[in-house]
Amino acid sequence: MDRILVEGGLSLSGEIPISGAKNACLALMPAALLTQAPLTLTNAPFLSDINTMRELLASLGCEVASLQNNRIIAIAAESISNHVAEYDIVRKMRASILVLGPLLAREKKAVVSLPGGCAIGARPVDIHLNALEAMGAKLELKEGYIFAEAKKGLKAVDYTFSTVSVGATANIVMAASLADGSSVLRNCALEPEIQDLCDCLNGMGAKVKGGGTSIIEIEGVSELSGHTHSVIADRIELGTYMLAPAIAGGEIFLRGGRIELIESFAKILRETGAEVISSEDGILVKGSKNGIAPVNISTQPFPGFPTDLQAQMMALLTLSKGISTLNENIFENRFMHAPELNRMGAKIFVDGGTATVEGVNALKGAPVMATDLRASISLILAGLAAQGQTILTRVYHLDRGYENVCSKLSNCGADITRIST
Ligand code: EPZ
Repeated sequence: MDRILVEGGLSLSGEIPISGAKNACLALMPAALLTQAPLTLTNAPFLSDINTMRELLASLGCEVASLQNNRIIAIAAESISNHVAEYDIVRKMRASILVLGPLLAREKKAVVSLPGGCAIGARPVDIHLNALEAMGAKLELKEGYIFAEAKKGLKAVDYTFSTVSVGATANIVMAASLADGSSVLRNCALEPEIQDLCDCLNGMGAKVKGGGTSIIEIEGVSELSGHTHSVIADRIELGTYMLAPAIAGGEIFLRGGRIELIESFAKILRETGAEVISSEDGILVKGSKNGIAPVNISTQPFPGFPTDLQAQMMALLTLSKGISTLNENIFENRFMHAPELNRMGAKIFVDGGTATVEGVNALKGAPVMATDLRASISLILAGLAAQGQTILTRVYHLDRGYENVCSKLSNCGADITRIST
């Protein structure tokens, strides 16, 4: 089990290249199931979640190749030899549910393991299933699996999602792209990753309008072609590294960062006192010279403050000059980083979906444990500012969503190393 050691207290200076978005790539890869021709994704991130999706698609009979140091993923679903997404793979990565819509649309049948919950919440998939039933799919839940079929093919639908769901929006847009007729989907997720998926589907010959807005219209087509698509920049990685100079001091240029993907977060970060300067090639962030101001945040679907940046912002606010509150409205258990930050001397009080953070003058390095993907990086951010050494265990959580963390940060002057034990 690897560990990451951080010697805190060093101001940062340098440049970090922003990788392709994990959450865009995890929706783009299953789109390959919609066509027999190859789908090539460039600017792909090299992450364990992406490898799990590769493993799943290969288990269904896809040819999956990685080129250019895993930056390019080519997927060819010439024939689907297996229609079962096994629990052993699905349990590792919830986004596996995103093969359900494309498989049903292409093959008229699918058996997909229920993903189960994860550390941050129950993570049900009822919204996905309700929408597919509205499209004529017959679904049966048996022994932890979803048995789905649409003997006559999926039919177009005018459907309103009961709750904004990124995954369900992606799943149903993909399913509708091959359905018979024109669909209208309402109350869709507005996330940039949805727009990226719709752009890719249109490149494959789909007819999708309104990607990235709350109403998406899809005119079903009989077949899709191959395509090459560049994965959008990862706005969550971007926000994460924007916090590094804010918490440790100094300045970092985030190459490839696009401010329009992260407006609400950037606004809050500026309110804490950091300087955020956007340009054509990326975003420059300078740590505040007058200390960190407290702020109040409430996580919301895009374009609101992203839940995936809540843990990281909390790390910054542990060193603010006052009291901040963080309301987590998307997931029911996403404060597991708080007790670990408190081990470093933070003063965080959690009551249900609200965390109250009383800023302290300094954090102290300590042995801490990663509990989930975003919690793990929030502990590293805290370690950058803490006095002394922080030792992070269970770094496999980190590998799911961040590539080359140690080199990206040490290239900016951080003293951070990964050791295998
Ligand atoms: C996506 O998860 C992201 N994952 C998450 O990122 C992100 O936090 C989340 O969207 C919200 O932005 C990927 O894209 C792979 P949802 P997803 O469906 O699609 C409830 C990370 O750290 N819900 O938008 O699973 C759900 O429980 C990860 O990179 C249902 O009740 O999220 C949640 O409370 C974590 N029934 C809310 O809706 C459903 O059928 C939003 O979930 C589906 C969702």
